[in-house]
Amino acid sequence: MEPGDDVSGFSCGNTDLDDFLREAPRLLSLSVVQVYLAFAEEQVVGYAALLNDSLKLATSEKKKLKLRYDDHPVIPGIKLARLAVATALQSCGLGTRLLRLAYHVARAQAAVGCRVLIVDAYPQSVRFYESRAFRRARKTPNARTISDDENVTMWLDLHTTPDWAKLPPGSRF
Ligand SMILES: CC(C)(COP(=O)(O)OP(=O)(O)OC[C@H]1O[C@@H](n2cnc3c(N)ncnc32)[C@H](O)[C@@H]1OP(=O)(O)O)[C@@H](O)C(=O)NCCC(=O)NCCS
Repeated sequence: MEPGDDVSGFSCGNTDLDDFLREAPRLLSLSVVQVYLAFAEEQVVGYAALLNDSLKLATSEKKKLKLRYDDHPVIPGIKLARLAVATALQSCGLGTRLLRLAYHVARAQAAVGCRVLIVDAYPQSVRFYESRAFRRARKTPNARTISDDENVTMWLDLHTTPDWAKLPPGSRF
């Protein structure tokens, strides 16, 4: 996202997600989020918002990452803080393309430890993420990720490459 991008016409059917995009320039200037926009005919038709985060995993989940029980339970990652597609273009593959972009951005974090892609999914979007190989995080005491009770924290191991992530980030399908 660049200063001056016109996001005023964006609507995905969820007021919080629409409002977030209008607030994004301020948040970007404060370096607390990075926003990637998708355009069609010069209109913003989707976006993904990313930031650094971490996730406290249970021992059984750490084993899936080949970490030992005595390795640190807090796993570094990238949070897909928001993902939204304009109502008219939903179910056309754009959400998956933005997810792929997020995956590749997270995989490119070679300068720092980064093992998982994290999302706090709306209950109605859990199926979308499950079908793209995200797992529901088990509830752990003092969970460290930024989440509220209603959303479902989910994660994807960045050492795996699901089919949808195999194409380069900008690919259509
Ligand atoms: C969820 C969302 C990002 C998916 O993007 P998309 O471009 O519609 O999705 P794709 O075309 O890549 O993939 C289609 C999948 O999205 C699901 N989907 C479509 N519209 C959806 C909606 N409004 N809410 C949740 N899931 C939706 C479809 O059921 C389909 O699932 P399947 O592949 O498992 O059958 C998009 O629909 C959206 O912006 N929804 C409203 C906002 C929202 O719920 N954002 C998620 C925040 S966690």
